[in-house]
Amino acid sequence: MQALRRTLRLRERWHRCAARFFDLTLNTLVKPLHHGFFWGDRLLTLDKSAGFLAEPIFRDALRHADSTTGENQYVSPHGIAWRYHTLIWAARSSLVLPGDFVECGVYRGDMSWMITQTVDLCAAGKKFYLYDTFAGLDPRYPSEFASPNAERAAQYIAHRYGEEDIEGHVRRRFAAKDYVVVTKGVVPDVLHHMAPERIAFMHIDMNSPKAEAGALEVLFDRVAPGGIIVFDDYGWKQFVKQKQAADRFMAARGQFIMELPTGQGLIIKR
Ligand SMILES: C[S@@+](CC[C@H](N)C(=O)[O-])C[C@H]1O[C@@H](n2cnc3c(N)ncnc32)[C@H](O)[C@@H]1O
Repeated sequence: MQALRRTLRLRERWHRCAARFFDLTLNTLVKPLHHGFFWGDRLLTLDKSAGFLAEPIFRDALRHADSTTGENQYVSPHGIAWRYHTLIWAARSSLVLPGDFVECGVYRGDMSWMITQTVDLCAAGKKFYLYDTFAGLDPRYPSEFASPNAERAAQYIAHRYGEEDIEGHVRRRFAAKDYVVVTKGVVPDVLHHMAPERIAFMHIDMNSPKAEAGALEVLFDRVAPGGIIVFDDYGWKQFVKQKQAADRFMAARGQFIMELPTGQGLIIKR
């Protein structure tokens, strides 16, 4: 046991050193040779415009949203900005469709904040339904990490999502936006009692294959043709069970999810 702990500690130290070396090389040697540079959320692009970073409305919203990625050994300046961009694109594109907006898995509301600050849901007459236990994962709908650090990862998210007064924080954050409907409850169960009849946009981000497949079971038929669903964890290796669950669900309906370099999954319902 002691030997295993020592090996893990050494491995962690090695990861940190490699990350520092990588960041230093990127910033001093690579970045100056390129016209465009995005480095965040374990996504590196060179010579791409990443035009959203220059949009004033995006920059303004980002000032009040957490863009870090939790435990991360890299110092990457752009954080999860590209994930935000995907969501904003999907929300903007869904505005013209019939139905409301839904997010399952809200945490402190950063992603829904970015959407509501940059896309005028109110003018379009949309409601934005946010669902979370505000107390972390429910034992009936666990996370199923596929990584050697599964136990540690589960402890980390239990600690993070179990922080005090997350619900209060989210309610205060959206208090001035009366089109945002915050619901505390376990997905999918709560969706049977309180969910829109028609959906234009849905974001699924619960770190649990069973909860996410359950949300699809209840809500997918309500998504309008052309409606967009974004899966936050779809392409991340440690969340492969979520990918498998979502793929199974969609394949049974002859639909396919696009894996994005951000780690998100994207589907436009036919
Ligand atoms: C990755 S976080 C969501 C991050 C969020 N989208 C954001 O903008 O930062 C996952 C959230 O899902 C919630 N959650 C997990 N399982 C759930 C379930 N079965 N029902 C409702 N919420 C759940 C957790 O409480 C946690 O707040």
